[in-house]
Amino acid sequence: MSSDKERIQELRKQLYYHNYRYYVLDDPEISDSEYDRLMRELETLEKKHPDWVTPDSPTQRVGGQPLKAFDPVEHTLPMLSLDNSMNEDEIREFTERVQRNLAKSDIEYVCEPKLDGLAVELVYENGSLTTASTRGDGTTGENITQNVRTINSVPLRLLENEHAVPSRLEVRGEVILYLEDFEKLNKQREKNGESAFANPRNAAAGSLRQLDPSVTASRPLDIFCYGAGQVNGIEFDTQMNFLQTLKSMGLKINPYIRLCNGIQDIKDYHAEIMKKRDDLPYEIDGIVVKVNDTALQEQLGVKTKSPRWAMAYKFPARQETTQIKDIIVQVGRTGALTPVAVMQPVNIGGVEVSRASLHNQDEIDRKDVRIGDRVIVQRAGDVIPEVVKVIKSKRTGDETPFKLPDTCPVCGSKAVRIEGEAAKRCINLSCPAQVKERIYHFASKAAMDIDGLGDKIVDQLVDRNLVSDAADLYDLSRKDLESLDRLAEKSAENLYNAIQDSKNRPLNRVLYALGIRFVGEHVARAAG
Ligand code: IVH
Repeated sequence: MSSDKERIQELRKQLYYHNYRYYVLDDPEISDSEYDRLMRELETLEKKHPDWVTPDSPTQRVGGQPLKAFDPVEHTLPMLSLDNSMNEDEIREFTERVQRNLAKSDIEYVCEPKLDGLAVELVYENGSLTTASTRGDGTTGENITQNVRTINSVPLRLLENEHAVPSRLEVRGEVILYLEDFEKLNKQREKNGESAFANPRNAAAGSLRQLDPSVTASRPLDIFCYGAGQVNGIEFDTQMNFLQTLKSMGLKINPYIRLCNGIQDIKDYHAEIMKKRDDLPYEIDGIVVKVNDTALQEQLGVKTKSPRWAMAYKFPARQETTQIKDIIVQVGRTGALTPVAVMQPVNIGGVEVSRASLHNQDEIDRKDVRIGDRVIVQRAGDVIPEVVKVIKSKRTGDETPFKLPDTCPVCGSKAVRIEGEAAKRCINLSCPAQVKERIYHFASKAAMDIDGLGDKIVDQLVDRNLVSDAADLYDLSRKDLESLDRLAEKSAENLYNAIQDSKNRPLNRVLYALGIRFVGEHVARAAG
C-alpha cells in the first residue's frame, strides 16, 4: 500500500517535470508514448486509491461540471493597466519623468513584448494552483480556474527548486491563442454557421469565458507570465530576477525579454521587435517598458489605474473598421474573376487602404459580406489588405448581397467555375483583361524586366490592337511606340531598346515570364 503512495508521488513529480519540458520549454526529454505510459500508470493507481487523488494531480487537468455562471474573485492587489506611448517622444518623456522622480540618471529597464491576449491572475498556495481569474475591472474578476487548468503550460503544481515553495504566489500573465489555431478555429466556426472572432485576442477571451471547461480544453491556449500580485515566501529585487524565478518554478515567460539601459536601447528593442512582429506565431501590439529595480518601482508608486514605473510603447494598429461602398470584379492573368471590396478609405498603420480582395464567391458567402456592410479590415506588413469580419450588429437592412456574374465583366464571354476549383474564370483566352495581365507579368521585374513597359503602356498597346500576346512586343517598331499617348520620342526610343535588350534574358526568366500554371520563379530556375 505505502509503495503505491510513493509511486503516485514519484509519477506526479515526473509528469510535472515532463509537462514543463514539453509545454513550457518546448524541449521534451521523453517521447509522447512514454509520457502517456506514465500518465496511464498514474491513472490506474489513482483509480485504485480514489481518496489519494488531489486537485493538483496531472490527471485532473480537464474536468469538473459546466458552470452556471462565474463567481467573482477579488484581487488581493488591483490588476493595473498601462499608459500607452504611441511614439518616440512619448516614451522618451516617460524615461525622463522616471529619472526626474528618482533623481537618478542610469536606470535599468526590462523590455518585454506586449502580448495581445487576455490578462489573468494565477494563485498558487503552497505550490498548488488554487485560483485563476480574469482581470475584470481590475479589482474584481471572474473565477475561471476550471478553464485555466486546461492550459497545458500552466503548471498545476510549481516545480521544486532551490527556492522554498512560496506560501502564496499571485502571478499575472497573458493568455494567448496562436494565429494558426485562431485561423483554424474561425474556419470551423464559419463552417458551422457561427460568427468568426475578429482577432486572436477575442478568441482567447471567448475561450476562457466558456462555462463548460471541455470547450476551453479543445482550444490550444498558451500563457506568458509577466507580473506579480501578492507574493509571500520568496524574495526578488528586480523584475528580471522575478521572471527568472518564475521560470525556475515551471511558469512560462516570453523568450524575447531584454534588459535595456536608457532610451536608445529601448528604441532599438522596439524597432527590433516590430520587425519580428510578422514572424511571431502570436499577436503582439507593442512593447512594455518596466523599471527593473523593485525598490525603485515602489519609490515611483502607482496612479489610480496604472503604475508610474511602466509604460507600453505601442506598434501601429493593424485593424480598423470601415464601410464597403461597392464590390467590383477584376479579371486576372488566368481569367479568374476576383471580387474586390471598394471601401471608405481608412488609414491602417500609416497606409491608406481603400480596397481589399474578397478572393472568391465561397469567401464572400462564408463571411457573408454585403455591399454597405461595416467591416473590420486588416493590413499586416506587406500582406494585401483583407476583410476580416462583418460587423453584423451595425447592419441597417439596406445591405446588398453580392454574386459573381456569369459573364466576364471585361469581354462578356462566359465565366465558369470548374468543379473542385474556388475561382470562376472567363473562358476567353483573348479576353483583353487576361491579355494585359499576361503582358504585365511578362514585362515585370522578376520576369523579362522590360524597363518602361508599365501597365499604362501595355493597356494602350492592347487596346489599339498593336499587341495581342507577349511575342508581338518584339514586332513593335519605334514608330508604333512613338504613336502612343504620353510617350515622348526619347522614352519611346528607350522602351524600344529595352524590349530588344530583353531578348538576352536567361531561359529561366523566359520560362517564368510565360506565366505557365505551377511554374513560379523557383520551378523555372530548376528547369532553366
Ligand atoms: S504588465 C502593472 N506586461 O497589457 C503592469 N502587461 O495595457 C500591468 N500585457 O492588462 C501589466 N503584455 O493584459 C504587462 N509583458 C506585459 C504585457 C502586458 C501584455 C497587457 C496586460 C495588461 C495590458 C495593459
